[in-house]
Amino acid sequence: MSISRRAVLGASLASGTAIALSACAAETPAQETSTSKPAQVTTTGDILLGETSEVAVGSGKKFPIDAMLTVLITQPRAGVFRAFSATCTHAGCIVNGVEQEEIACGCHGARFDPDNGMVLAGPAKTALGKIALEVRGSELWITI
Ligand code: FES
Repeated sequence: MSISRRAVLGASLASGTAIALSACAAETPAQETSTSKPAQVTTTGDILLGETSEVAVGSGKKFPIDAMLTVLITQPRAGVFRAFSATCTHAGCIVNGVEQEEIACGCHGARFDPDNGMVLAGPAKTALGKIALEVRGSELWITI
């Protein structure tokens, strides 16, 4: 029997535990003048995102977790998957995804390495937040 993403999310939400993130994770670009406070992610635990087949080699896919967290899964090389917070460390926009083998933020042009999240081009100065990822068979699971 497989566990649905919804069931896992529901169980996670019921735990009542929260972790803090340092940036806004809205789907729309944050304004540079934003005074948003650190966000609270209320979803925790093991979360089934989807299947490895959903993320092509050399690409990435975003998975919205809740109102405060979107996860970007990348596959920089065949069979190698990485998970990052999709929230750009510059000003909190959600990154576009992988473009020309780099994670691209459309707000101000920052670029990140899809293998380790490190900054390739500013204005961002810090790497994307890494998220624990486990591939179980063909399933992508994160732990937050
Ligand atoms: S929010 Fe400015 S480059 Fe991403």
